[in-house]
Amino acid sequence: MEEDLKNIVESAKQKVSAVSGRPGFEAFKAEITGPNGALTRVMKNMGALPKEDRPTFGKLINKAKQDVQSIYDGVLSGIEEAELAAKLGPAIDPSLPSPNATRGTVHPLTQIREEISRIFKQIGFTVAEGTEVETEYYCFDALNTPANHPARDLQDTFYMKDDADFGNVSKRTDERYLLRTHTSSVQIRTMLQGEPPIRIISPGRCFRRDTVDATHSANFHQVEGLYVDKNVTVRDLKALLDYFFEQLLGKGTTVRFRPHFFPYTEPSFEVDFSSKHLAKLGSDWVEIAGCGMVEPAVFESVGIDPDVYSGFAFGMGIERIAMIVYGIDDIRYFYQNDHRFLKQF
Ligand code: DAH
Repeated sequence: MEEDLKNIVESAKQKVSAVSGRPGFEAFKAEITGPNGALTRVMKNMGALPKEDRPTFGKLINKAKQDVQSIYDGVLSGIEEAELAAKLGPAIDPSLPSPNATRGTVHPLTQIREEISRIFKQIGFTVAEGTEVETEYYCFDALNTPANHPARDLQDTFYMKDDADFGNVSKRTDERYLLRTHTSSVQIRTMLQGEPPIRIISPGRCFRRDTVDATHSANFHQVEGLYVDKNVTVRDLKALLDYFFEQLLGKGTTVRFRPHFFPYTEPSFEVDFSSKHLAKLGSDWVEIAGCGMVEPAVFESVGIDPDVYSGFAFGMGIERIAMIVYGIDDIRYFYQNDHRFLKQF
């Protein structure tokens, strides 16, 4: 009988490689442990054995059952794997992009920034870069706004600790660093880098110590513009902004200047526009930008001779334009990263 058990296990081992699919497996199992299977038959014969031989033989039977079970388990896991592979289809390449992935959209502020840049590039402006961490000198002093100037009160910001480390920003111990309050600092950087004629715009992030509400954010975006050449006049400035706002906000858009004060321009103006977009806001004229003719003191601080050159500068808020164009009534939507909002643009 011991011999029989060995043969049963041996023959199961040999036959197993030919087993495939569930029906094949069931037939294979029936031949060994089914009601008439070889192992079942041996077990049935146990009754005929002398009593004293039964425990030893019982152990051998158990061993044979275990061997057979592990053969079954092996076949079964092979079958399950094959079934799963059939369900999944051809091999999957996990490095490929998902065919069902939803695509992101371009953020509305980026869309407006790109549109503004596109319009200015078409008329010969290039895009200049500045830094968000700025020195007090570039942000205020060189723009004719000394330390005790009241204009600074409107632009309180975040000042850096004296020992802060700014990586690639050159560190001078006599400079105070801050988060820039406007992109006007790029005017200074640009004029120090190159000779007139200068024709740049500079979009970028700005920061102010503002309490956040529907129309204020401590961090927002502006676009600065600067044009320096010989014989530049207010007429050129007005013509440029007329053209720009009509391109941006559509035909029929008109622009008006209101006298104002900025330390770095003289004369200075606030720019209002009127267009079909204003129907959304229920008003006739809305302030949209600040501008003016570059103040001679600013030219002097960057070594440009104000008797030879003149120029104009302007600055506007990107959020404000986006809110008008898209009819958005709360600035905070821009920064919440809520897909339900973002996918509308
Ligand atoms: N820097 C001003 C602000 O943040 C905007 C501005 C006004 C920029 C007049 C200019 C300018 O270039 O000439 O409110």
